[in-house]
Amino acid sequence: MKLFVDTADLNDIETIAGWGVLDGVTTNPTLLSKVEGEPDDIYRRVCELVNGPVSAEVVAEARAEMVEEGRRLAAIHPNIVVKLPMSAEGLAATATLAEDDVRVNMTLVFTAPQALLASSAGAAFVSPFLGRYDDIGENGVERLREIVESLETSLHDTEVLAASIRNPVHVTEAARMGADIATIPPKVFYQMLQHPLTAKGIDTFTQDFEARRARGAEA
Ligand code: G3P
Repeated sequence: MKLFVDTADLNDIETIAGWGVLDGVTTNPTLLSKVEGEPDDIYRRVCELVNGPVSAEVVAEARAEMVEEGRRLAAIHPNIVVKLPMSAEGLAATATLAEDDVRVNMTLVFTAPQALLASSAGAAFVSPFLGRYDDIGENGVERLREIVESLETSLHDTEVLAASIRNPVHVTEAARMGADIATIPPKVFYQMLQHPLTAKGIDTFTQDFEARRARGAEA
């Protein structure tokens, strides 16, 4: 499973890209509202930092305007993927953009039937949301499994991009369910790094090596 970061924060993207683990980036209007700067400038900088798909979301709601905004976003950089919401208008815009070889990430996908529609319209990626299912007391991981299974026989080449990831367990579950990609908030990337036994092990190795060096100095 490929790992994307779900943020518009350039500092976090640069830090995590520096670990050599990033295959792409996703943003959305809420994430953009949390950072300073013009969205187009942010997308350009993100494309410099990460060599992979970078999702930029349209805010238009009607198909013609979605297509226009999508084409404008796609022209910013070859790595830009146009993010469109699941809706009849979004599906129609996806089909038009896909005919022009513009890659679309269909977002706000919650069910297998929605994912099948997105795939048939030509979406390169579908984004099922895990955490928002958990928020309403339902099992997001189980819905993700249904979506992965349903797209296995799709005639279209659509990658399943698990989104709305809230913790490292979601990441593990997305991998186990066969998602192609998980898009992960920076906070969860930092949590994924850590385990108390890793920290303890590093301390022990360092102390033991220092003790050996000290013995060598005495001899
Ligand atoms: O980018 C879409 C998705 O990852 C949003 O996550 O935490 O707002 O449900 P969240």
